[in-house]
Amino acid sequence: MKFLLEGGYPLEGEISVQGSKNSVLPILAATLLIDGVSVIHNCPLISDVSAAKSILRDYGCLVKSEKNTVIVDASSLKEGDVTDSLLRQMRSSILFLGPVLSRLGKARFCFPGGCEIGLRPIDLHLNAIKKLGSKVVEENGSVICSADKRMSGEKIHLTFPSVGATESVMLCAVLAKGTTVLSNAAREPEIVDLASFLNKAGAKIRGAGESTLIIEGVDKLHSVEHTVISDRIAGATYLFCAVSSGGKIKVNNLDVSFLQSVFPLLEECGCTLKYEKNSVFLSAPERINAASTVRTMPYPGFPTDLQSPAAAMLSTADGTSVIVENIFENRFKYIGQLNRMGANIRVEGRTAIIQGVRRLRSAEVDACDLRGGFALIIAALNASGITQINNISHIDRGYERAEDVLSSLGAKIKRIT
Ligand code: EPZ
Repeated sequence: MKFLLEGGYPLEGEISVQGSKNSVLPILAATLLIDGVSVIHNCPLISDVSAAKSILRDYGCLVKSEKNTVIVDASSLKEGDVTDSLLRQMRSSILFLGPVLSRLGKARFCFPGGCEIGLRPIDLHLNAIKKLGSKVVEENGSVICSADKRMSGEKIHLTFPSVGATESVMLCAVLAKGTTVLSNAAREPEIVDLASFLNKAGAKIRGAGESTLIIEGVDKLHSVEHTVISDRIAGATYLFCAVSSGGKIKVNNLDVSFLQSVFPLLEECGCTLKYEKNSVFLSAPERINAASTVRTMPYPGFPTDLQSPAAAMLSTADGTSVIVENIFENRFKYIGQLNRMGANIRVEGRTAIIQGVRRLRSAEVDACDLRGGFALIIAALNASGITQINNISHIDRGYERAEDVLSSLGAKIKRIT
């Protein structure tokens, strides 16, 4: 599957942002903890959500979807045997480990495996799960966990504020016996949304969004209804599309408080931004200025998921920009593809030095991961001619109907199967 995109048309118009991929995935895993029905609204229609629903069905859950609402009945949970291929398809499959272990007392998962952005180890997840009283055995590429009795609350410190490890601790601790205090926790809005979902179901989590979480174990969680927060990464990605095309767009259904580390970059580049609580209007100059150094950091710092979209946007800036990737050790793979389109970017270790060029040119390029794949779309919107982007299944993992959203803004893009 590929996109054909003819660049040179400034984007104009209004869009509404999809629900957050990185919020709905841990929340779908959390439905396994609930001896009842979870109704989840604002779920993005993306392939990672389809994969998560397949995993839930493998554990005996009844799963129904009506447009952007997913309904999960986990009251008849059974031992599942999720295929390794399904688990490897999506990194966040590791998030199902905690809930399965919590409800069934044992879980076997293959290592999710690395992907295009790095090794993606799960040591922080497993150390925390061990501390909560589970036995963890690693053998021939699988992790086998067993808890012969109810897990018990503990003091846990994360050596790095890992989003996934924070979520694993929350998912194991909510039904544990006693209280868990997690320090150096991740502070992303998706952590707050997961805590909000669990608390509505009867959990007792305090401090979500801060560095210390206090989770008082409860005996049972009950049915719940929840609306997922908007996808801050998708919202910002579409703003970068408008910048790269020299256009002006309004993005609705976007909590602007989530992007306080991103707007200064856009303003520094010369964009005009007007904010309301749940929307932002951006007008881009014909050509942006280069940015001073952008460093990716845990929230509330600049998000690593916007590193490649930002590099694509800055590749046609007037001047030289620098981006430092501090979170993943191998998240520059897309740069070779951008340089095939005439970008002038060199990588030194974790630093990308981007010498802005006046205009990119079309080429045939390959998406190699989710965000790096969308960076190619951002570049193609600027490029003269028709760019062909291959392997767009990477993009479909996290962006709902990207070609429809972009076409509604005037982009000349079509999907070729
Ligand atoms: C989540 O991944 C997101 N995925 C990622 O989004 C995002 O880039 C990342 O958080 C950082 O914000 C989902 O939420 C589904 P981490 P996660 O654990 O949980 C190392 C996207 O494009 N680490 O915070 O895997 C790890 O290797 C995706 O939507 C360990 O060393 O991220 C990385 O260097 C990509 N051991 C750093 O921590 C562990 O046990 C941050 O990883 C876990 C992580």
